[in-house]
Amino acid sequence: MPVLTDIATLATCPPEGGQGEIGLIENAALVWEGEEVAWVGSEVDVPEAYAAMPRESAEGRTVIPGLIDCHTHLAFGGWRAGEFEQKLLGTPYLEIARQGGGIASTVKATRAASETELHGRARGFLDEMLCLGVTTVECKSGYGLNMEDELKQLRVYRQLAEEGPQRVESTFLGAHVVPSEFKDDRAAYIRLLTDELIPQIAGEGLAHFCDVFVEDTAYSPDEARTILNVAATHGLGAKLHADQITDLGGGALAAELNAASADHLECISEESIAAMAKAGTVAVSLPLATLYLGQEPMPARRLIDAGVPVAVATDFNPGSAPSYDLHLALWLACTRQRMTPAEALKGATAYAAKAFLRNDIGSLQPVMKADFVVLDTTNINHWLYHFRPGTVVRTVIGGETVWAQSPSQLSS
Ligand code: NIG
Ligand code: FE
Repeated sequence: MPVLTDIATLATCPPEGGQGEIGLIENAALVWEGEEVAWVGSEVDVPEAYAAMPRESAEGRTVIPGLIDCHTHLAFGGWRAGEFEQKLLGTPYLEIARQGGGIASTVKATRAASETELHGRARGFLDEMLCLGVTTVECKSGYGLNMEDELKQLRVYRQLAEEGPQRVESTFLGAHVVPSEFKDDRAAYIRLLTDELIPQIAGEGLAHFCDVFVEDTAYSPDEARTILNVAATHGLGAKLHADQITDLGGGALAAELNAASADHLECISEESIAAMAKAGTVAVSLPLATLYLGQEPMPARRLIDAGVPVAVATDFNPGSAPSYDLHLALWLACTRQRMTPAEALKGATAYAAKAFLRNDIGSLQPVMKADFVVLDTTNINHWLYHFRPGTVVRTVIGGETVWAQSPSQLSS
């Protein structure tokens, strides 16, 4: 039962409370037993029962819950660096999609890749995320768009979940776009989703959630309703890619369908903000995607002020967000969306867990999982203000150290 002491600042990030309430404790100690947190509080209050336990020193650093990336498209074939250049030269994202690029080109590359290849690449991405302090990753399918290739992506995620060390949460995104072979009969593809893929995936336990991309070039709100209602009858929770480029009332739809989250929301309306606040739907901000697409970001301040919990994630994918740097996404949430460092941190811990309904991770309190990160900084404000690489000193998942660097000198 190890005891970590000499923690300058510890953020418990309780699931309850407002966006900026991160439960700061100065001069803190943390005790864990096996996979779970046993005690957390001021170092002077460490209970007698733990006095004789082995002690480790955090050497005046900061401890936060393990970071949760609650929106990624982790497994895909190929890359799209050419489109990056096209976009920089002025071709809009949806125009590239209309020309057969975009998601469709990744579908082609993902179908061509073997399960072993997809797994190997995704394995490499997860390994690199450890040094960023990312301990849980939500992973979407959606680049297969047929039975065989959607199952292939989801089986990669299941294998990654079994291997660890990160916790992996899978989401079925068969309704990402309509694949080209169904372009003249989209109803037939939707029937394939509702009558075959959803029952198969739910039956195999390959996903807990079903996600739909609601957009002019993807699915209408009515189609999303049909798909997500069927998914619900098979026990899959709802999530939406909503109001990213066009306001189609996606936020309000997420609220109506009792979705766990609505993600993107760069173009969200006031009506949708009010509906999400009432329903308690989590808004997932994806500032890297916004930045790559050169858009105005989700109005996070307006959502927070209305009482909507805002999570922050990377959206890692080969098109709109080819980066899994969650630390950078948090910094962008501060600099471009005026979220405070505390608010951003809550968005990648407790509220990120809420975005896929997990109540055992994202906070450091008994008996949550002992997933935590030691940061080379003395406080949260300083961490996101003095933005620099290599701030994570140690990443712990379920009480096990899964990544550590040799401590450098405190520079904060
Ligand atoms: O979350 N919005 C739709 N889907 C992805 C983009 C995927 C892609 O461009 O390949 C997103 O941004
Ligand atoms: Fe996405």
